[in-house]
Amino acid sequence: MVIDTLNYDPARQGRVPEIDAADTPAHLLLQTHLTGSRVVKAFSNIFFKHLATLGRPTGASDRSALPIAGDEATAKEAVATLIDSLGYDAYDVGPLAESRRFAPGTPAQHAYLDPADMFAAPGRPASTEDLAKLLSA
Ligand SMILES: NC(=O)c1ccc[n+]([C@@H]2O[C@H](COP(=O)([O-])OP(=O)(O)OC[C@H]3O[C@@H](n4cnc5c(N)ncnc54)[C@H](OP(=O)(O)O)[C@@H]3O)[C@@H](O)[C@H]2O)c1
Repeated sequence: MVIDTLNYDPARQGRVPEIDAADTPAHLLLQTHLTGSRVVKAFSNIFFKHLATLGRPTGASDRSALPIAGDEATAKEAVATLIDSLGYDAYDVGPLAESRRFAPGTPAQHAYLDPADMFAAPGRPASTEDLAKLLSA
């Protein structure tokens, strides 16, 4: 099982010709390389400093949800357990292809960022309901 945290964000990181030329969209590329692995996309839309500070106990009113996507249920269950242990609810977005819903350029990519301070601020909680709205926006 592999957790894919990667983003391809040309606006921030520059273009990679091999990714642009590939038949497979960037958010599915890792799975095409790791054919023997069950890839679960997770943690790709939260800044590492915010991941360290936004975790809360189960049931807390300001507990946040993190999206996960993958093609294999037991792998997603394992990642959801890990996410719960870190103080977050896991929100299953669906198959790996659905991770496009929290890829760079989507509203959900910035789910925990305060628009005023972005990466300088401590991070803003996003509940399951907040995240669901962003994922469908
Ligand atoms: N940082 C976050 O908070 C965060 C949150 C969510 C998702 N992500 C995603 O996680 C990924 C990594 O982010 P990061 O913040 O860890 O970036 P980073 O600190 O810049 O680290 C990137 C790593 O990739 C290696 N690398 C770059 N180009 C390579 C190449 N062509 N071949 C082999 N290795 C290469 C670098 O190696 P060298 O050190 O040798 O250059 C470095 O170890 C990105 O896709 C990012 O969008 C990051």
